[in-house]
Amino acid sequence: MSPQEFINSPKYGSATLIPFDPNSEAQCKRLYEQRLACSWDYDLIEEWRAKVREGTKFMYWITINDELPEKADYLAKHIERFPKEKEAIVDTAETLGKSSRTPTLISFIPIGHIALELYPERQEQYSLPDSTVWIKSLYISWAIQAGGFGRSAMHQLERLAALPPLNATVMALDTTTKKFQTTPESIAIFNKIRGSEVASADFRSNEEWYTRQGYDIICYVDEMYKWVDQETGIAISVPSVFMKKQLV
Ligand SMILES: CC(C)(COP(=O)(O)OP(=O)(O)OC[C@H]1O[C@@H](n2cnc3c(N)ncnc32)[C@H](O)[C@@H]1OP(=O)(O)O)[C@@H](O)C(=O)NCCC(=O)NCCS
Repeated sequence: MSPQEFINSPKYGSATLIPFDPNSEAQCKRLYEQRLACSWDYDLIEEWRAKVREGTKFMYWITINDELPEKADYLAKHIERFPKEKEAIVDTAETLGKSSRTPTLISFIPIGHIALELYPERQEQYSLPDSTVWIKSLYISWAIQAGGFGRSAMHQLERLAALPPLNATVMALDTTTKKFQTTPESIAIFNKIRGSEVASADFRSNEEWYTRQGYDIICYVDEMYKWVDQETGIAISVPSVFMKKQLV
């Protein structure tokens, strides 16, 4: 018996989540490609595989719901920008967390990924309840961002986290601060990674985006991570904001 995987919700239904298979080389290669595109944590694939296998990270592919009329157009845009991602991968995961599941063997082209993770030591550090589950590793293809897929994936993941076996009452996450992301230097870096310029009036920081999804600030932490420019090799210190949302 697997935990529930699909949430039917018309308002947030543009994305569908499919469990990641840590035993599939094709899926691990695709995850690496997407992390390279995201520009973060592309060196953590083996660590994530191990966490998924031991049941402390629940990783999902984000795919476009078949019911969405513009699905083909969105996929075409994604593949045009990321031709290495044009091949479909197959749903082969036989476990989700510690539960077994029957893979659907459906072929799909993921447009991003998202994970739930357990961090007991962080909960103590930030005075969060034991029933806190963390959202990690969220990425939507740069080619089709602002299309509602991130919001849909978050909504579905929050609903899944609140169900057994995780029974989350609080979701938490950390992300880059608005202050850091909106400096001219950062905007230039993000434009380079995104591959196109976004007018400053239209630019939304991750902090603002998560606030819009109902997350409140817990605290700011300076020098949390180092981001390495893949072209120059220069490392930049990135401050973070920790955020949380009460689910029940
Ligand atoms: C952050 C990210 C996941 C968002 O995904 P997305 O698919 O582009 O976002 P969506 O299109 O679903 O967002 C829609 C929501 O953002 C809101 N939004 C749009 N512009 C906004 C702005 N300037 N400020 C605040 N909110 C804004 C929309 O109104 C909508 O809100 P609603 O849910 O209340 O209707 C995506 O941009 C991404 O992958 N970025 C790169 C990787 C990354 O930074 N990941 C997060 C790491 S912690």
